[in-house]
Amino acid sequence: MIGKMYSSTADNSPAFWGLRPSTPEYIPLDSEEGKSFSEITGFQPDLAEIMISARKFPYGFFRVKENNYAKTYKYFVKIVSHERFAMEKFSLAIMAYLHSKGVPCFVSNLIQGQNRKGKYCVTISPYLEFNYFSGMRSEARAMGKLLRVVHQALTDYPKAEQIKNNWQKRYKVFTNLRDILHQETPSWWQWGPEKKGMLITGFPLLNFGQDIAQVVHGDINFGNLLFPYSANNPILIDFENSKYSYFPVYFDIAMLLERFFLVGRDKNEAEQLFNAFQEGYGEIQFDKLFMSMKAMTIRSLFLLTERTFKNIITPASEWKKFFILLEQSEDKCSFLIK
Ligand SMILES: Nc1ncnc2c1ncn2[C@@H]1O[C@H](COP(=O)(O)OP(=O)(O)O)[C@@H](O)[C@H]1O
Ligand SMILES: [Mg+2]
Repeated sequence: MIGKMYSSTADNSPAFWGLRPSTPEYIPLDSEEGKSFSEITGFQPDLAEIMISARKFPYGFFRVKENNYAKTYKYFVKIVSHERFAMEKFSLAIMAYLHSKGVPCFVSNLIQGQNRKGKYCVTISPYLEFNYFSGMRSEARAMGKLLRVVHQALTDYPKAEQIKNNWQKRYKVFTNLRDILHQETPSWWQWGPEKKGMLITGFPLLNFGQDIAQVVHGDINFGNLLFPYSANNPILIDFENSKYSYFPVYFDIAMLLERFFLVGRDKNEAEQLFNAFQEGYGEIQFDKLFMSMKAMTIRSLFLLTERTFKNIITPASEWKKFFILLEQSEDKCSFLIK
């Protein structure tokens, strides 16, 4: 599979407007793939198609019909590494909880798939025909409404205490990384002293008051916010990041603002979209938002730092993306600072 759509770490990630994926495309499986897919998931191979993506088979996204006569697809199947089982489980539990609270959300099944080559984590959801955000104000308003009810419902998430601890542990790890960066420049650091300084001076932004924090989504981007054909309102998916995201709600809003409304648009358009968002969400305090935008980028940069210290290779483009965002945030947000 050499087609290119996106993967979560590749430089064609859908996090940003200009790089957003178009509506996903699917193609039939070849016979080898079909056999393997069937072994892992139990589905009949000729009923399935694979999404064109940068993932290496059998990892990837699939859609499956219920039977040969069906015209539409019934299931959306995601196969990832078995190591991600716990993360996926966590994400699905939050979505099921939101659903139980009346927030439009998927309820999915998680199974352990297996073939001769290994074990896999398989998520099975209802298949959805959807669009990504297309830049309309009505969509921005609907996103505001959605995030409001999601945040409201997450205020009493039963596992909040665990998530708070997860973040506090992460914060300690980041503190250590900050100290290391302060004392030395790791051999892999290729961004010069100025950018290292940005991480160090930005770090205190992650030290917000815990009393204003709650469970949030933590990874709001184009790929995780879908507008179903069948409904007027969007839905949020992929709550994996929530596992560590005990933050002020402004962190989510800032991320949304940055990725959906700021990148690739002029200030006037951004302001209009943001105003529409506020009509849905309720009034937002701008000063907090501005700091949160920087904080989220600093968090992302520390996550990359953590990964690199663990010898997980991250494309240079990922680093560059966040440095650009950090530098741009002042200018782009001038409309917030009236
Ligand atoms: N239920 C679904 N129906 C159709 N497409 C879906 C569904 N869930 C996810 N997708 C597609 O898969 C993409 C990635 O899904 P996601 O769960 O966020 O995976 P990842 O954790 O790899 O980011 C989405 O952007 C969307 O294109
Ligand atoms: Mg995602």
